[in-house]
Amino acid sequence: MRKEIIKVGLLGMGTVGSGVLKILEMNREQVKNRAGAAIEVKKILVRDLHKKRPVNIDRQQLTTDPRDILHDPEIDVVVEVIGGTGDSRRYIEEALRHKKFVVTANKDLMATAGTDLLLLAREHNRNIYYEASVGGGIPLIRPLKHSLGANRIIRLLGIINGTTNYILTKMSMEKMEFETALAEAQARGFAEQDPSSDLEGKDAAYKLCILAMLAFNCHVRFEDIYVQGISGISKRDVFYAGELGFAIKLLAIGEEMEKGLALKVHPALIPLDHPLASVYYENNALFVVGNAVGETMFYGLGAGALPTGSSVVADLIDVARNINHQVENGVMETDFQAKSVVPIDELPSAFYLRLQAVDQPGVFARLATAFGDARVSLDMILQKRSVGGMAEIVLVTHAVEEKSFNLALETIKSSPVIKKINSVLRVIEK
Ligand SMILES: NC(=O)c1ccc[n+]([C@@H]2O[C@H](COP(=O)([O-])OP(=O)(O)OC[C@H]3O[C@@H](n4cnc5c(N)ncnc54)[C@H](OP(=O)(O)O)[C@@H]3O)[C@@H](O)[C@H]2O)c1
Repeated sequence: MRKEIIKVGLLGMGTVGSGVLKILEMNREQVKNRAGAAIEVKKILVRDLHKKRPVNIDRQQLTTDPRDILHDPEIDVVVEVIGGTGDSRRYIEEALRHKKFVVTANKDLMATAGTDLLLLAREHNRNIYYEASVGGGIPLIRPLKHSLGANRIIRLLGIINGTTNYILTKMSMEKMEFETALAEAQARGFAEQDPSSDLEGKDAAYKLCILAMLAFNCHVRFEDIYVQGISGISKRDVFYAGELGFAIKLLAIGEEMEKGLALKVHPALIPLDHPLASVYYENNALFVVGNAVGETMFYGLGAGALPTGSSVVADLIDVARNINHQVENGVMETDFQAKSVVPIDELPSAFYLRLQAVDQPGVFARLATAFGDARVSLDMILQKRSVGGMAEIVLVTHAVEEKSFNLALETIKSSPVIKKINSVLRVIEK
C-alpha cells in the first residue's frame, strides 16, 4: 500500500543531522513532490538531551535510547549521522534486522564494513544509501552506480579531502607555511582539532575504498591502498612546482591496469592545465575516465551541513520512491569480482626530487649516471641557487616503475657530494 508519509529516525543531530533537518524544512514541498510522499522525522537520537541545537525542534523528538528508533515499527528509514564504526555499525545492523532502510554519511564505516552491511541489507530485502559518505554534496555514488554504468571505468583521480586541499591552496596562493595554513584551516572549521586522519591521507583512502569498489566492481580493503599524507610538503616545493608548471594536490588515484588495480593516495604534482589543478580551498572534485564517456569531472563542496545534508535528503527521496514504487537503487555493489592490487613499487610514476648538493663540477654528471644506471630518464633538471657552497637541485623524471626510481635514489643518497634529499614527490605527467 502506498504510504503518504515516510517516517524517519535520525541517529545524530550534529553538523550533518542538523543540515538534514534544515533542508527538510526549507524544501519541504519540493522534497514531498519528488519523493511522492511527505518525509517526516519522528525521533532523533543524541547523547545529550539538553544541548543547545542549531535547528528548532520539538524536544519530545529527542531520545538517548536507540530502541525508540530501531524498534519502532512506524519508522521506515534510519538515517545514521553519528559517525564512527562502533555504535553506528550496531545501530545500522539492528535497523536492517528490523526491516528498515538505511541512509548513512559514514565513510569510515562504509569503507571498512560496507560490503558486510550491504549483504545484510540484501538478506533482509532492504538497502543502504550512502551518497553523502564521499564528496559531501557532490553526486559521486549515484553516477558511478548508475549514470556511468555503461562504462568500464579506466581511471579515477580525485581531490576528496577538503582540509588538505585548503592547506595546499593557502600554501600556494598565499605562500603560507604548512603550520600556518593548518592553523587557519582549524580556526575556520575546515580542519578538526585532531587533523591527523586528514593530513595523513587516511580520510581520502577511506573514500577511495568506496569509490574504487563501485568503479572497479570489486572489494577494496583500506590495507590495499598505498597512503601518504601531506605533512612533508614545504612551501619551497609548492613554489618550485609552480615554476615548473604544476600544482601540488593530495590525490586519490584508482586505475585498472592490465596487471591489476593501482590504488593510492599521495600528494602529487599535477600539470596546471589539468582540471583538478584549479580545484581550490575546501572544494573537492573527482575526475573519472570511462571507456565510453571519456573524461568527466564532478566538482563542489565536499563537506558542511547543507551540502552533506543535500546528499542525505536525496537518498531519502530515493528510499521513499523505493518504498512506494519499488524503484530500486540497485544492489550491484555486493556482486563483486576478485581483483589483484599492484604493489606500489611496481606501479609507474614520474618523480620530482629536490636535493642539496656540494656546488662543484661533476654533480650533474653523477646524478645523470645514477639515473641512467637505473634506466630512469630525466625530463627537467634545474639548479636553483648556491648558498655557502651548497646548491639546491630540482629535477623531474619521466614515468618509471617506482622500484627503478628508488634504486637510483639509493645511489644518489650514498654519494658524498649529495648532502640532503629534501623531498621526493610523485608527478602526474603532462
Ligand atoms: N561534517 C561534515 O561535513 C560531513 C561530511 C560528510 C560526511 N560526514 C559524516 O557524517 C557523520 C556525522 O558527522 P557530523 O560532522 O555531523 O558529526 P557531529 O557533528 O559530531 O555529530 C554527531 C551527532 O551524533 C550524536 N552521537 C554521536 N555518538 C553517539 C552515540 N554513540 N549515541 C548517540 N548519539 C551519538 C551526537 O550527539 P550530541 O549532539 O548529543 O553530542 C551528535 O548529535 C560522520 O560519519 C561523518 O564522517 C560529515
